[in-house]
Amino acid sequence: MSNPSLLILAGDGIGPEVMTEVRKIIDWYGAKRDVTFDVSEGLVGGCSYDAHGTPLTDETMAKAQEVDAVLLGAVGGPKYDNLDFSVKPERGLLRLRKEMDLFANLRPAQCFDALADFSSLKKDVVAGLDIMIVRELTSGIYFGEPRGIIKEGNERVGINTQRYTESEIARVARSAFELARKRGNKVCSMEKANVMESGILWRDVVTEVHQAEYSDVELSHMYADAGAMQLCRWPKQFDVIVTDNLFGDLLSDAAAMLTGSLGMLPSASLGAPMENGRPKALYEPVHGSAPDIAGQGKANPIACILSFAMALRYSFDMGAEADRLEKAVEDVLADGLRTADLLGEEGVSPVSTSEMGDAIVAKLDASL
Ligand code: IPM
Ligand code: MG
Repeated sequence: MSNPSLLILAGDGIGPEVMTEVRKIIDWYGAKRDVTFDVSEGLVGGCSYDAHGTPLTDETMAKAQEVDAVLLGAVGGPKYDNLDFSVKPERGLLRLRKEMDLFANLRPAQCFDALADFSSLKKDVVAGLDIMIVRELTSGIYFGEPRGIIKEGNERVGINTQRYTESEIARVARSAFELARKRGNKVCSMEKANVMESGILWRDVVTEVHQAEYSDVELSHMYADAGAMQLCRWPKQFDVIVTDNLFGDLLSDAAAMLTGSLGMLPSASLGAPMENGRPKALYEPVHGSAPDIAGQGKANPIACILSFAMALRYSFDMGAEADRLEKAVEDVLADGLRTADLLGEEGVSPVSTSEMGDAIVAKLDASL
C-alpha cells in the first residue's frame, strides 16, 4: 500500500510558523511509528496571490483533490485588505471548501483542565467542557446567488442569499447524528426558523432525518441567538451542535473562546468518501493568520497540531495515535508550558512557538 499523502498549505501570517511545528510531529511519526506520509506543499491565500496573482492556482486545487488530506495554516492579512473581492486570500480557502465539497466542518471545543482558568467564564462552567460544533460549510449565505453590490437609484445595495436544499441539510444532519452516536448521543440543531424560511426548512429536514434514521439520538432545536446565549450560560448542556454556514462561523468562535484561547482549537472539514474509502478532507486551526504577531515566534502551534490529530483520527483511522498526540498536548499544558496567548498566571514566562512544538515531540517520545 502506498504511503498516506498530505498537501500542506501553510498560507499567511502565523500559518507557516505553526505548520513548521506540525512538520516536526509528522516527521516523528515517520521516524518513531513507522508511519511515513508523502508530504507536498503549496501556496494558498495572500502568498499565492503574491506569487501567482490568484489566492489558489488550478494546479494547487487539482493537487488538493488528489491527496488523502490537506493541512492548512491560515490565510489573510492587512496587506490584502484592499484587493478586489475575487482575489482576496479568503477566496482561496472558500474555493477549496466548495470544490472539494467539504460540507461538514467539525469544530470541537474542549477545555483542557490546565487551562480552565483562562476562560472568561467561571471555572465550573467550562471545566471538562467537550462539545462538537458541526457547521455546514459549502452552502448557505456564503455561496448563495444572487449576490453582489448593485446600484439601485442613486444608492448601492449589498445582496447575499441564504439558500439551502433539502439534500444539503440532510447530509450535514447525518454527519452530526453519526458523531453524536460516538459521543454523548445528543444533537442540538440551531437556526432562525422564527424569521427565515431556510430556517423552517432546516428544522423540518433535520427532524425528518432524525425520525427516519436516528431516533435513538436525542434531538433538540434552538434558535441560533438563544443558542449563543446558552453557550455562554451553560455550555455543558450541549454535546453536538449542528448549524448552517454563517451561524456556525459565529457560534464556533464563541465556543472556542469558552476554552480560553482561540490558539487551541482545531477543525476538520470533511466531504464524501473517495475511492479509497477516505473522506475528502481538509484540516485547519480555527484561529486566523494573526498578522499582529506573525514572524515573532509567539504563536501557539497547538490548534494546528491538534488539527493534525484530527487528520489521524478522521482520515487515517489512527484513533489511538490521535489520542497519543492529544495526550502529549495535555501533558505539556499540565507541566505549565504556555505560549504568549495563554499567559496570566504569576511567574510564568512564555515559551516560543518552536519550544512548544519541541516539548510536544518530547512528550510523544516519552509515550513510547
Ligand atoms: C473560519 C473563517 C473563514 C470563514 C474565513 C477566513 C473565510 O472565519 O473558517 O471560521 O468565514 O469561514
Ligand atoms: Mg470564522
